[in-house]
Amino acid sequence: TKVLLVNGPNLNLLGRREPEVYGSETLAQIVESLQKQASQLSISLEHIQSNAEHDLIDAIHQTKAELIIINPAAFTHTSVALRDALLGVNIPFIEVHLSNIHSREPFRQHSYFSDKAIGVICGFGSQGYIMALHAAAARLTTA
Ligand code: DQA
Repeated sequence: TKVLLVNGPNLNLLGRREPEVYGSETLAQIVESLQKQASQLSISLEHIQSNAEHDLIDAIHQTKAELIIINPAAFTHTSVALRDALLGVNIPFIEVHLSNIHSREPFRQHSYFSDKAIGVICGFGSQGYIMALHAAAARLTTA
């Protein structure tokens, strides 16, 4: 089983970006531990991070994954195009945020993705990606 992990803009800065909000782990460290978990769950995990909306959209169009785990980052609150890409390929997805977006600025409380997601995990830092991977594994093996 194949899962695509999509990370949006500025997540390449994890580790030095507002560590009090997003933690001190780098994206490379997070993805490395996810890869280890994925292989234990017999999941082949592909990853894309981009700061460009069109690169994320193209990756979604091209993937052969059965499920997508996505942290759309700031595009969460802005991108109808990314939402439409996920709906267009009709691949189920889990939305993840490191921070609890509901406890932050009001503009972060609306997501263009949540109403279409299988589920949303936020506020647990990088652990949220691990939770999403386990949720994906459970769903894919029982589907
Ligand atoms: C984020 C929350 C977004 O509001 C923000 O723009 C991000 C990261 C998170 O993971 O907590 O870039 O998606």
